[in-house]
Amino acid sequence: MAWLHVFVVVLLLLAVSQATADEDPYIGVNIGTDLAIMPHPTQVVALLKAQNIQHVRLYDADRGMLVALANTGIRVMASIPNEQLLGIGQSNSTAANWVSRNIVAHYPATNITAICVGSEVFTTLPNAAPVLVNAMKFVHSALVASNLDNQIKLSSPLASSIILDSFPPSQAFFNRSWNPVMVPMLNFLQSTGSPLMLNIYPYYDYMQSNGVIPLDYALFKPLPPTKEAVDSNTLVHYSNVFDAMVDATYFAMAFLNFTNIPVIVTETGWPSKGDFKEPDATIENANTYNSNLIRHVINKTGTPKRPGIAVSTYIYELYNEDQKPGPISEKNWGLFDSNGDPIYILRLTDSGSLLANDTTNQTYCMAKEGADPKMLQAALDWACGPGKVDCSALLQGKPCYEPDNVIAHATYAFDTYYHCMGKTPDSCDFNGVADITTTDPSHGSCIFPGSLGRNGTRVNITAPSMNSISSDSPGRNFYSGGGFGTVLVVIKVMLWSVIFL
Ligand SMILES: *[C@@H]1O[C@H](CO)[C@@H](O)[C@H](O)[C@H]1NC(C)=O
Ligand SMILES: *[C@@H]1O[C@H](CO)[C@@H](O)[C@H](O)[C@H]1NC(C)=O
Ligand SMILES: *[C@@H]1O[C@H](CO)[C@@H](O)[C@H](O)[C@H]1NC(C)=O
Ligand SMILES: *[C@@H]1O[C@H](CO)[C@@H](O)[C@H](O)[C@H]1NC(C)=O
Ligand SMILES: *[C@@H]1O[C@H](CO)[C@@H](O)[C@H](O)[C@H]1NC(C)=O
Ligand SMILES: *[C@@H]1O[C@H](CO)[C@@H](O)[C@H](O)[C@H]1NC(C)=O
Ligand SMILES: *[C@@H]1O[C@H](CO)[C@@H](O)[C@H](O)[C@H]1NC(C)=O
Ligand SMILES: *[C@@H]1O[C@H](CO)[C@@H](O)[C@H](O)[C@H]1NC(C)=O
Ligand SMILES: *[C@@H]1O[C@H](CO)[C@@H](O)[C@H](O)[C@H]1NC(C)=O
Repeated sequence: MAWLHVFVVVLLLLAVSQATADEDPYIGVNIGTDLAIMPHPTQVVALLKAQNIQHVRLYDADRGMLVALANTGIRVMASIPNEQLLGIGQSNSTAANWVSRNIVAHYPATNITAICVGSEVFTTLPNAAPVLVNAMKFVHSALVASNLDNQIKLSSPLASSIILDSFPPSQAFFNRSWNPVMVPMLNFLQSTGSPLMLNIYPYYDYMQSNGVIPLDYALFKPLPPTKEAVDSNTLVHYSNVFDAMVDATYFAMAFLNFTNIPVIVTETGWPSKGDFKEPDATIENANTYNSNLIRHVINKTGTPKRPGIAVSTYIYELYNEDQKPGPISEKNWGLFDSNGDPIYILRLTDSGSLLANDTTNQTYCMAKEGADPKMLQAALDWACGPGKVDCSALLQGKPCYEPDNVIAHATYAFDTYYHCMGKTPDSCDFNGVADITTTDPSHGSCIFPGSLGRNGTRVNITAPSMNSISSDSPGRNFYSGGGFGTVLVVIKVMLWSVIFL
């Protein structure tokens, strides 16, 4: 009977891939509204369009937002806030009213594709958990009555903390205290073809791990094989927290015998700023996390357990929410400030036109690897001297002092010069020791010109008597030498040789 077994397994596999593989994974963005100056819905939508953001999640069903999103093509997940959950879960007529007022009134002009029923209910409002599945069923009945149940999916975003023993993923399970709700909920998701919604915060996993989780593993950075996390049961290697959490979720569902419910990640992100207890909430880490995340999701890699299966993901979040209580980091998860200016410019290649402020074509000038340190030192001296680059960021105690070596300092000076000169290829040569790159050399609080869309600044120093030499000599008109004086002499020699050659 082995062939029958194989046959059934193949059928099951087909069913699973049918459910998810035919749709491409996408990136969406959460829109929190706890801002002192919340932009008007039309401004929000203008930003979404400018950034080519095609999927959003609202934390409520705000009429103004739903109207502004009409006829934009943007896919919207609306939410039933936790405050309304008890009412809706206890009365089918309250649920039906909610659906007609907030969904039916806007559909199809506003393309509502899902309703999030509550948010992290088990962990933030446990007393509403007993009515959660009823709320989902009541809302579903109302959608059926309006013939919208095929277009609009229903689920309830879960905090990943409900998954216990999440590493190794193959041993993960849902907190059993909630099985009386979890099992009927998974039944509901399965029977309605809805996804399991999961919030994943590798930032907190990393912070709470007391050093067990390496930062690079949380940030999707390449790891040496010895540092990858290995699931001792499946021998699968994990190279990032995100995949391990998604697989833990698949295993936790399988543990309850649900094997064909897809997962979408309703929240994930990284804060760009924190207080002294949150040293890893930095612009650089936030940029790294979100840029790597986007590439990872769009890339269709899936996870080790379900390669190639879409795990669409909503970034937390569009705006910095300056009114959020709690530590500084709470207010700094956004990609944009309330003016719609980017907090950082994502480093995206091959991700299409999503988030238009990408740096696909952003270029930087850096010291060539393996260049002669003496030549680099001389070029650095030239840039910070006659080249008039403002090198104050390289002084001790300033953001770009570390790492204190000639390659890092020269790269900063070269890149600043290059941007001041309008990024002409000529201005990134420095006699052959510099190269144009698309990798942002920014690190920590040392933000390079070009990153964040910034231009470099030059100081208004008076170059020591240079007579015939234009103070804007491009980087290539430079030659190595010892001290400052030598450099000038050499430049003069160079110029002469240019004239005579
Ligand atoms: C609500 O539930 C009652 C009792 O089960 C039922 O009679 C009624 O038709 C339901 N109403 C809606 C709008 O589903
Ligand atoms: C709404 O979004 C769904 C899912 O992406 C898509 O299939 C459908 O065509 C969209 N409807 C409209 C009217 O744009
Ligand atoms: C499981 O959930 C219960 C009920 O919310 C909670 O009291 C308990 O601490 C949770 N267990 C773990 C290990 O988090
Ligand atoms: C899952 O299915 C197996 C085999 O049918 C069964 O023995 C087990 O009790 C089920 N587990 C749950 C949690 O329903
Ligand atoms: C997708 O990611 C994998 C693993 O990170 C990489 O090997 C592959 O080249 C990527 N594919 C594309 C199309 O970017
Ligand atoms: C990047 O450059 C390519 C080729 O030069 C161009 O087609 C593309 O539109 C540019 N992308 C952006 C975001 O400027
Ligand atoms: C940066 O410099 C370039 C070239 O000089 C200039 O065209 C551009 O407007 C500047 N951008 C900003 C934001 O100052
Ligand atoms: C970001 O993108 C928007 C819309 O495309 C544009 O108006 C803005 O100038 C860009 N900002 C930067 C810093 O590039
Ligand atoms: C810059 O230098 C020029 C020429 O020496 C001088 O006229 C100008 O006032 C200086 N500007 C500043 C801001 O110091």
